Amino acid sequence: MSDRILMAPSILSADFANLGNDVRMIAEGGADFIHVDVMDGHFVPNLTIGPPIIKALKRVTDTPLDVHLMIDNADWSVQWYLDAGADWVTVHAEACDHLHRVLQSIRAAGAKAGVSLNPGTPIDTIKDVLGLVDMVLLMSVNPGFGGQAFIPHIVDKTRDLAAMCETAGVSPLIQIDGGIDTNTAPLVAQAGARCLVAGSAVFCAQDPVGAMNAIRAAGESAI
Ligand code: DX5
Ligand code: ZN
Repeated sequence: MSDRILMAPSILSADFANLGNDVRMIAEGGADFIHVDVMDGHFVPNLTIGPPIIKALKRVTDTPLDVHLMIDNADWSVQWYLDAGADWVTVHAEACDHLHRVLQSIRAAGAKAGVSLNPGTPIDTIKDVLGLVDMVLLMSVNPGFGGQAFIPHIVDKTRDLAAMCETAGVSPLIQIDGGIDTNTAPLVAQAGARCLVAGSAVFCAQDPVGAMNAIRAAGESAI
């Protein structure tokens, strides 16, 4: 397992009126991914951005766009995000009728495929698709909003997922999303996470690049 922590700042907490500038700043500051939270006001109780913004962000940065789809019916709309230029596309296991097929179609389009689980969904749910994914995203808050408190049981869940992957002989990137800061980063890194999403702890800080790098350093100090 890598001893590096990849950082995926979530633009949900960026300044939407100056999105291009915020994305450029955090990308030039060393972000490994730009995490884009797509919400449909149905699967989650919030509405955010969609394919046109993703297309526009592709013109601003070469840093991979890590698109987290918190939407129902990703089965048919996933293609919109692939066409818009998403580099990594993560769908929720809870929101896909045909999870296996959706993940296959993401890879067939040449993108990296991720599967996500809400805090209340057990990891066994994705056992049969582990071989089809490049990333597993464990939500450490209930999805919908930035700035929520980290749910502690995700540390054990991360450890269990890492063990399940090892047993299956696969090594998807384990990403954690929600309530990540310099206090929680070491806990999940130690448990096996290698990619951390952080929204409010990065973009609400005085120095977003410094805050991102502090979270990375905190995580790497624990592995
Ligand atoms: C929540 C989103 C997150 C969110 C994280 O549903 O998936 O990516 O931006 O925000 P923080 O880091 O503030 O918890
Ligand atoms: Zn997210």
